[in-house]
Amino acid sequence: MAEIVRTHERRTSVNGNDELGEVKWAKHYSSNHQILLVGEGDFSFSLSLATSFGFASNIVASSLDSYDVVMKKYKRAKTNLEMLCNFGAQILHGVDSTIMKLHTDLRMRKFDRIVYNFPHAGFLGKESDDLVIMKHRNLVRGFLRNASGMLRPNGEIHVTHKAARPFDSWNIEELATQSGLTLIQCVEFKIEDYPGYNNKRGAGRNPDRAFPLGECNTFKFIVTSKTMNLMRQKPQEIPLQRANEEIVMNPLQSGDCFWIFKEYFNHARSTFGEPDYFFRMMFRTC
Ligand SMILES: C[S@@+](CC[C@H](N)C(=O)[O-])C[C@H]1O[C@@H](n2cnc3c(N)ncnc32)[C@H](O)[C@@H]1O
Repeated sequence: MAEIVRTHERRTSVNGNDELGEVKWAKHYSSNHQILLVGEGDFSFSLSLATSFGFASNIVASSLDSYDVVMKKYKRAKTNLEMLCNFGAQILHGVDSTIMKLHTDLRMRKFDRIVYNFPHAGFLGKESDDLVIMKHRNLVRGFLRNASGMLRPNGEIHVTHKAARPFDSWNIEELATQSGLTLIQCVEFKIEDYPGYNNKRGAGRNPDRAFPLGECNTFKFIVTSKTMNLMRQKPQEIPLQRANEEIVMNPLQSGDCFWIFKEYFNHARSTFGEPDYFFRMMFRTC
């Protein structure tokens, strides 16, 4: 059963009108969220969310494949797409997630949730092959880099992925860090949370077939804040400017500035010990 929580809240619809609506939740997704789905197969995941919300004017559902290819690959696609359209979703085909921030219909848009379920670059050989893993990783990295620039404040990027070997060696968290993202949660994915969703192979001889899920997780990422970035830097990597060090260290030369901030320095010293590089750097940015 889908986890649907109903509350009454004011919501801003896509066209900007404020309406007193019933906010519905389908697991991690709310009818209040602007949601972008990429790499859809037969669009059954998007339809599952739309059905839970009762509308889909907040959903942009996309596939890499053209409309014609989607029709050929998936027998339920026509019905799913018709239903999504009736719910008010925007459907886009030919969206490459690795360059999507430049897409005509996406480049001006920002989203609360950007979702890619089971990214996969196609059946290119043995899944344990280094070259194959590299192709999959390039896809995920490209997606994360693009998505990171398409989020609204407090927005999240969700990637659902198999936990078993060799899929765990894609190391999605590392790819996210390289893309300026931070993992905030990794939760077990249960397909029964999304009634009607059929996971698809999407490529090869039987693209319409489901693949065995086994243990799967949804990784949730947010854009790494500037503060977090500063904390992550190793102290010795921070370039120091002599003049600014003097402000902290030398009351005689720094004049008013030192006396104005003296109490703060004392507090910081007692908290952090002697002023270290990080402390000096914080002061420099004041
Ligand atoms: C394993 S299938 C999963 C399909 C669907 N997300 C699902 O859960 O059923 C992988 C999907 O990734 C898509 N894909 C591969 N490369 C892509 C890219 N560069 N941009 C967007 N989608 C891509 C494929 O077309 C395919 O639909």
